[in-house]
Amino acid sequence: MHPLLIIIILGALLILTIGLGIFIILAMVGMMLYRSPFLPLPLSALNRVNELLTLSDTSIAYDLGSGSGRVVRHLARQNKNARVVGIEGAPLPRAFTFFWSVVEPLPNTEYLAQNILTTPLNDATHVFVYLFPYMMPILSKKFGEELQPDTIVVSCDFRMADRTPTRTLECIEGSSKHTLYQYTF
Ligand SMILES: C[S@@+](CC[C@H](N)C(=O)[O-])C[C@H]1O[C@@H](n2cnc3c(N)ncnc32)[C@H](O)[C@@H]1O
Repeated sequence: MHPLLIIIILGALLILTIGLGIFIILAMVGMMLYRSPFLPLPLSALNRVNELLTLSDTSIAYDLGSGSGRVVRHLARQNKNARVVGIEGAPLPRAFTFFWSVVEPLPNTEYLAQNILTTPLNDATHVFVYLFPYMMPILSKKFGEELQPDTIVVSCDFRMADRTPTRTLECIEGSSKHTLYQYTF
């Protein structure tokens, strides 16, 4: 093999290894910060989330732990006059969010790099969460203290044990199975 070709292949392998290393480190930083993995919600469940949230032109919707912004973008596309805010603290999903915001700029979206536990929710009319069981009692208390009456909350897969859902939806497609819990505060 030509020595130049060997150098190019070795260079490409080195860049790939460094890229993969950075990806793994950023993913681990997110896990260490929030004990919650970066798991985007499958497309099949996104329409059901939109159906349960029932946004209007005056809505302000939050995705707490917005990951790559997949849910935020979907809601913003479906509800062009509503404002959709994604809150995400971990660096890797925020990098994906930035990438997708450049590829598809949506004027009714906003992303805040902050901790969801210290984000004020007083102006929210709708909230979506797909987090982890240990977060649910903490969020239930926060929602009770900060949300305006009639705010709709949809939680994916994990329910708030101290509250009764107003609706529950199963989303099954292939091997992907999710349960959505809708609450009215
Ligand atoms: C399972 S992912 C859900 C992503 C997105 N909402 C979706 O459904 O596709 C949960 C996200 O919440 C973020 N997260 C968890 N706890 C957080 C906190 N306290 N503050 C900010 N982000 C948090 C994680 O970094 C992760 O990206």
